[in-house]
Amino acid sequence: MSIIEAQGLHKAFDDGTVAVDGVDFEVAEGEVFGFLGRNGAGKTTTVRILTTLTRATSGRARVLGLDVDKHRSKVRDRIGLSLQQAALDPLMTGREHLELIGSLRRMGSARRTARIGELLTGFGLTEVADRLVATYTVGMRRRLDATLALLHAPQLLFLDEPTTGLDPQSRRALWDFVRGYRRDGGTVFLTTQYLDEADELCDRIAILDKGAVAVIDTPQDLKKGIGGKVLTLPVAPEARELAASAVGDAAVRLDDGVLRVDLPAGDDVLPSLLKRLADGGVPLSGVTVTDPTIEEVFIRLTGEGLERGKGNDANVGAAALARTVGTGRGGI
Ligand SMILES: Nc1ncnc2c1ncn2[C@@H]1O[C@H](COP(=O)(O)OP(=O)(O)O)[C@@H](O)[C@H]1O
Ligand SMILES: [Mg+2]
Repeated sequence: MSIIEAQGLHKAFDDGTVAVDGVDFEVAEGEVFGFLGRNGAGKTTTVRILTTLTRATSGRARVLGLDVDKHRSKVRDRIGLSLQQAALDPLMTGREHLELIGSLRRMGSARRTARIGELLTGFGLTEVADRLVATYTVGMRRRLDATLALLHAPQLLFLDEPTTGLDPQSRRALWDFVRGYRRDGGTVFLTTQYLDEADELCDRIAILDKGAVAVIDTPQDLKKGIGGKVLTLPVAPEARELAASAVGDAAVRLDDGVLRVDLPAGDDVLPSLLKRLADGGVPLSGVTVTDPTIEEVFIRLTGEGLERGKGNDANVGAAALARTVGTGRGGI
C-alpha cells in the first residue's frame, strides 16, 4: 500500500518563485524514502505540502490515504515531523517541550509521562532533560526535535535534513534511530543533501532537480545504471589532459581537488590509462578505482555535483570554489 502519493505537485510562491514543479512519487508503507537534492531544489516545500503546512498551487497529495488539503488535522494527528529549522524555545527545558507537545497532542498524563521517559532515554537526553534548551548543543536540539516528532508514536515520520550540521557521531546515532524505527514498522520520508546518507539509509531515493523528480530507484539500481567503475586521483599537473586523452574529455571531472574519471563499462581501458598517467609523471599513489557512488548518479542526472564539506569550509577545495564562482551560483 502507498502511504504517500504525490501527483503533479506544483508550488509557486507569491513572488513568482516556482519551488516545486510537477513532482510525482509514491512511498510504500515500511520504507525509508530519500528525497535528495541540493539547496533550493524544493525538498522542504514538498515536505511542507505533504505535512499540511502549506498548500500546493496545483496537484494532489494523499498521506495515509487522506487528501492533505481536505483532511489537514487528521493528517497532522497521524504523522511526525521534524523540520530543518527546529522551532524550539531556548528558554524552555527539553522536558517542558515534550510536556507541551504531549498536551497539544491530547495525550493522557500517564501515557505522556511514560512515553517522555522512554524517548528521553532512547535519545540520550535524560540527563539534560531539565536544562534549558539554550544550553543544548546542535546535536541535542536535533535529538529533542526528533523526540517531539515521535511523542504520539506516529507510523509515518517526515525528517527534513535531519543530519545537516550534525557531528559524525550524532549523525550515526540518527541513522541508527531511523533504522530502528523502520524495523518497528514505521515509514520515513527523509530529505537530505548527503549522498552517502541516502545510499546507506534509504530503500529508494528520488533525486530532485529544479523542483522536479529526475529519477526514483533503489540506491543499488541507480548505481548499476551508471555502468563502469570510477577512478579517482588527487589533481596533479597534466593529469587531466592525460586522462582525457585516454577516455575522452567528457569522462573526466574535477571535483573538490579530486580528478574523477568514468571508466567505460566492460572496456578495459584501465591499464592503458594508468600507463599514460605514469609515463606523464603523475604519481599513482593516491589512485583508487571504485564502483560508482550515488554522487556519480547525481552528477550525471543533474549535470553538477552537490557541494561537499557543507558546514566545514576547510574541506571545500579550490576546484569546488572555482566551479561555484564559474557557474555563477551562490555557493552553499
Ligand atoms: N516562502 C517562500 N517564498 C518565496 N520563495 C520561497 C519560499 N520558500 C522557499 N522558496 C524558494 O523555493 C525554492 C525551493 O526551496 P526549498 O523547498 O526550501 O528547497 P530545499 O529545501 O530543497 O533547499 C528555493 O528557490 C527557495 O528560495
Ligand atoms: Mg530545505
